[in-house]
Amino acid sequence: MDIAEELVDTLYRPDGSRALRPVHSIGIAATGHFTASDVAHDYCTAAHFSGDEVPVNLRFSNGSGCAVAHDGWSDVRGMATRFHLPDGSATDLVAMTLPEFFAPTPETFLEFAKEAQPVPVVRQTPWQKFKSMLALTPPLPNPYPGETISPDPGAIRFADKHKYAQLAVWQAANIGAPQSYARASYHAVHTFVVTGADGTKRWVRFTWQPVAGVLNTNPLAPPVDRYLQKELRERLDHAPARFSLMMVIGEVGDPFNDSTKPWPPHRRRISMGELTLTHVPDNQEAESEKMSFNPCLLTDGIALSDDPVLRIRKEVYETSSKWRGATPCPFGKGAAS
Ligand code: HEM
Repeated sequence: MDIAEELVDTLYRPDGSRALRPVHSIGIAATGHFTASDVAHDYCTAAHFSGDEVPVNLRFSNGSGCAVAHDGWSDVRGMATRFHLPDGSATDLVAMTLPEFFAPTPETFLEFAKEAQPVPVVRQTPWQKFKSMLALTPPLPNPYPGETISPDPGAIRFADKHKYAQLAVWQAANIGAPQSYARASYHAVHTFVVTGADGTKRWVRFTWQPVAGVLNTNPLAPPVDRYLQKELRERLDHAPARFSLMMVIGEVGDPFNDSTKPWPPHRRRISMGELTLTHVPDNQEAESEKMSFNPCLLTDGIALSDDPVLRIRKEVYETSSKWRGATPCPFGKGAAS
């Protein structure tokens, strides 16, 4: 097995299914369109930033690889977006609610994934939680009703040994559950290189901000499971859901190749455009389950940075898509090498 295959294989959970994605297993597709802002083309010449409306299809997901939906559980959520460009090609932007990643390289992420294998859940006593806090490690959350296994103990143990994993593990431990897929911010996490209309290259990071605002559920009264898909259908039946795409421009000295590290907060931010979601397609099997996104599916005007985690994801997502018998990722036209 090469490292991409080993990553996919290691990510599968005992309560997951080989017919589904090993992570982000439960999801729902939606469609709509994206309209670039007036300034977007100055910063990036990619076709979806030209100003013309482009059709979009996307998939929201729960980060867990469990094959059963547990929407009310604290978990990272995903938003994978495909922009359909006027020349018939496409480009993807894969984002999640965690702003930083767990590891700086494919090898260290594999070590993390091995250590964070789900184990039977334990309920920590208040004294054990207090001791964890004194050691500056996140106390283990109380198990949810019906939760039998969890990756948390291994993830916390790993973060205790490897400083680079601490930020993401801490944030993941406290992330909670959104009230709606349309009430969360989603980060593409890695750095991309965009070329502006005057030829200037910039190292940037992208985030989707929900126009309706970020809103989590009450962690002390988790809602019934599987509310997120119902909520999205009902929401779009009444009105579109909107997200604005923010691009942050990095400066010399910022970590361009390491998505475990945040950038300083006072970086220039550009509003690149607005996504309007209008429909949940009927054929979820084709549009969500069998669909394959790939973060390396780019187009002229936007390129991969040297981040090794971003680069390995091309092969990782292709492998995963093949193993679960999905529609092959449309690499070729519009794809980055
Ligand atoms: C080496 C690091 C990573 C590995 C090994 C990995 C692995 C995977 C795999 C195997 C899938 C399923 C792909 C499929 O079957 O179509 C997936 C999906 C996903 N990953 Fe990652 N991932 C990594 C990093 C990230 C990062 C940094 C993000 C955040 C930007 C992310 C967000 C997502 C999302 C949102 C999905 C669901 C996509 C969909 O709905 O089809 N992943 N990941």
